[in-house]
Amino acid sequence: MPPLLDVQNLTVEFPSVAGKSLAGKSVTRAPSPANADVTRNISSSASSRKNVPSDPGSEKNVSPALTLAAVRNLSFSIHPGEVLGLVGESGSGKSVTSLAIMGLLPPNAKLTGNITFQDHESANGPAHLTNLTTLPPAELRHLRGSRIAMIFQEPMTALNPVMRVGDQIAEAVLAHNAVPPEIRERIRNDIGNERRELWKEWHRPAPLWFRIFGIPFVHLYSGVLNRGSGIMIRSRIRPEKAYELAIQAMRDVAIPEPDRRARSYPHQLSGGMRQRIMIAMAIVNRPQLLIADEPSTALDVTIQQQILDLLNDLRQKFQLSMLFISHDLAVVSHVADRVAVMYAGSLVELAPKSAIFASPAHPYTQGLLQAIPTLSTDRAHPLATIEGTVPSIAALPPGCPFEPRCPHRIVNCAADLPPLVEVAPGHFARCPVINQTSLVQ
Ligand SMILES: Nc1ncnc2c1ncn2[C@@H]1O[C@H](COP(=O)(O)OP(=O)(O)OP(=O)(O)O)[C@@H](O)[C@H]1O
Ligand code: SF4
Ligand SMILES: [Mg+2]
Repeated sequence: MPPLLDVQNLTVEFPSVAGKSLAGKSVTRAPSPANADVTRNISSSASSRKNVPSDPGSEKNVSPALTLAAVRNLSFSIHPGEVLGLVGESGSGKSVTSLAIMGLLPPNAKLTGNITFQDHESANGPAHLTNLTTLPPAELRHLRGSRIAMIFQEPMTALNPVMRVGDQIAEAVLAHNAVPPEIRERIRNDIGNERRELWKEWHRPAPLWFRIFGIPFVHLYSGVLNRGSGIMIRSRIRPEKAYELAIQAMRDVAIPEPDRRARSYPHQLSGGMRQRIMIAMAIVNRPQLLIADEPSTALDVTIQQQILDLLNDLRQKFQLSMLFISHDLAVVSHVADRVAVMYAGSLVELAPKSAIFASPAHPYTQGLLQAIPTLSTDRAHPLATIEGTVPSIAALPPGCPFEPRCPHRIVNCAADLPPLVEVAPGHFARCPVINQTSLVQ
């Protein structure tokens, strides 16, 4: 079965202005693999310098360039019903990746690569592949919020503070004219009275001018298609029906007394409740893919667990596929089937969850796992840490981005970005040094 979402060689670059990145970091070197000329210059200068000293935090081995790559040559896929966990430290490019999928990157960002989405009109309808990077803005807007939805990290900033939460969820329905798929199917397929009744129940009548001038043509059009659905193009879902769906979505995310809570403003709700509202808003249109960007990070541990349990329940109930983003491997382990680990804009490891935890094949993943306390952790000794910090995208080392911090580094590691190696079926790691097997990229 083809993947629901297929990201291939995604690179996202931001311009640097007069030696400064727009993120405010000073620029000493900006690698940009998607930019052939720059890449060639960097790799030729890097490979001509053997024995590059590995000095953590040093920026003297880098040269200036015009763009800063926040995400570099990233490839992964998500299959229908699958949850992929995307893990990485702050600044590793997780949010930029999710914004690229949603088509919400700032206008100055330069995106290369392909993002293909397998779009289903309805549960049983035919699928067609859509390249999200080339989709016209209006069509992308239509997909966003209906087939692909996103939960943002901080609900207080994502919700409108002066609008009741029920109205905000209903607005998401109205914006996409989202009659539930099963009702839409029945309106399309049934003939006669039932269709008429369902139609009256769910749809606001088309404007008068359209009923006079437009409807005869729509009927003609519908007759040709033999589907009877042309009229939907011009009609809107009834607001009271949208509100009903909003209340139902609040029930789906286990908000007690949804009718009463729907009349609350965001500041009247707790953090956990606000996050549930965000989730209700994301699932109300029954998306195929849900992108959850650190959905539980701002919450305390108990509420965090409740939100993770809720996401797991919703996944089962609605056969949701999910891109679950977190900086915490332990959190990701609660929901993900496979895990992708990012470091400084690059994918460094991708594997089924069990393989990541049982046999991590990249020194960075190994370091992350050693830093997670478990019941068997020896409390007499300090918890393991990874020395140093993630390099800024304005000062990436020329070779393996983890090289300055890596306990296994060898001289060659500082020369070129290492390839992704398949260390076991479906298990990839960007470290040929500790994985002497076949190369895949
Ligand atoms: N609009 C922008 N202009 C310039 N640089 C940007 C922009 N947005 C993000 N970046 C840079 O891209 C890099 C990746 O940022 P991103 O927000 O994806 O990190 P993240 O992995 O989501 O981190 P966090 O865990 O802190 O949310 C960072 O270095 C950031 O400064
Ligand atoms: S390629 Fe080298 S520096 Fe990078 S993770 Fe592997 S051993 Fe470490
Ligand atoms: Mg982020």
